[in-house]
Amino acid sequence: MSRFEALRIHDNGDKTTRCDAEQLTLEDLGEGSVVIDTHWSSVNYKDALAVTGKGRIIRRFPCVPGIDLAGVVAESSDARYAPGDKVLVTGCNIGEALDGGYAQRARLPADVVIPLPEGLDLREAMMLGTAGFTAGLAVLRMLDNHQNPELGPILVNGATGGVGSIAIQVLSALGYQVTAVSRKTDAEAHLKALGASEVVTPEAVAAGGKPLEKAQWGGAVDNLGGEALAAMTRTVVPFGNIASIGLASGIELNTTVMPFILRGVSLLGIHSVECPRPMREAVWEKLSGSWKPAKLDAIATRTIGLDEVAGYCRELVEGTVTGRALVQLRADAVR
Ligand SMILES: NC(=O)c1ccc[n+]([C@@H]2O[C@H](COP(=O)([O-])OP(=O)(O)OC[C@H]3O[C@@H](n4cnc5c(N)ncnc54)[C@H](OP(=O)(O)O)[C@@H]3O)[C@@H](O)[C@H]2O)c1
Repeated sequence: MSRFEALRIHDNGDKTTRCDAEQLTLEDLGEGSVVIDTHWSSVNYKDALAVTGKGRIIRRFPCVPGIDLAGVVAESSDARYAPGDKVLVTGCNIGEALDGGYAQRARLPADVVIPLPEGLDLREAMMLGTAGFTAGLAVLRMLDNHQNPELGPILVNGATGGVGSIAIQVLSALGYQVTAVSRKTDAEAHLKALGASEVVTPEAVAAGGKPLEKAQWGGAVDNLGGEALAAMTRTVVPFGNIASIGLASGIELNTTVMPFILRGVSLLGIHSVECPRPMREAVWEKLSGSWKPAKLDAIATRTIGLDEVAGYCRELVEGTVTGRALVQLRADAVR
């Protein structure tokens, strides 16, 4: 049986894990009706936590990490897929409880696999990856709940991150004014080039402590949690939406019911991992068409090989590098 390159995470049995570079066969992977030749994956912060063992991400050992992948179907016993089909997978527990993207082959249940929509190639799909999917899901949920540009500018924090920079591009292309919030004082030109009409510091959008402060934002995309999210609840206009995505600065939410019952503000939970298939298909359809970001290169700023993934993950958790990396699994990876 032919062997392929992979990373695999093992439980050391003492609450620590290790990530090994291995040669696997298909029989080493979990069950599934679709076998995919993986061409591209990406590095998300969650992957870095899994690979370095700094976070308890992996829920089944041994497990191939990598929470997203794009490739070509090699074998399928499911009628929806045939050899040669281009496909992608984001979320659905891959790289956590199912084997993920950091291997040259994947074997997965057909329901987690999405046909690559026209308008995106495999490489572009992973430049977007989980960050793009998550930003797209946030915008989809906001629009489904009647967000519209007349409500006012949308606040996007964690703006230089993967999710933030894609949300800025999608929202501005849809005609929204976007106020980007970033700690990086030198990022203004970059964020404006992505489509932000204004770039501010976190201090500039900190709200007072009253249950309701001056309503000034049409809606918000929150990557940080904690006080940043609480301030949004106090300052979003009546019937505006807040998409709660991340926890980069905290898991607490100190607010009151007042924004919800006196302003009709909606707090939308964004959970990319177990997103129902119709929603996954809808988001990818949009991202491949009218929502496709014009500046994909600004999102995944470098391409690395499988042999560089562990080192990149280490640097990401140490904070010596930032941003998403595209992972090329094969020298002859197709687009
Ligand atoms: N809900 C879901 O399904 C889902 C899916 C994907 C990601 N996430 C989460 O969403 C968040 C954003 O993901 P991402 O891929 O965009 O991450 P990322 O690329 O690491 O970007 C996060 C950004 O947040 C800001 N930031 C980071 N640490 C911070 C801190 N301690 N305090 C304040 N700001 C901080 C930085 O932006 P500035 O320097 O520009 O301020 C950074 O670029 C993460 O928390 C991630 O875990 C959730």
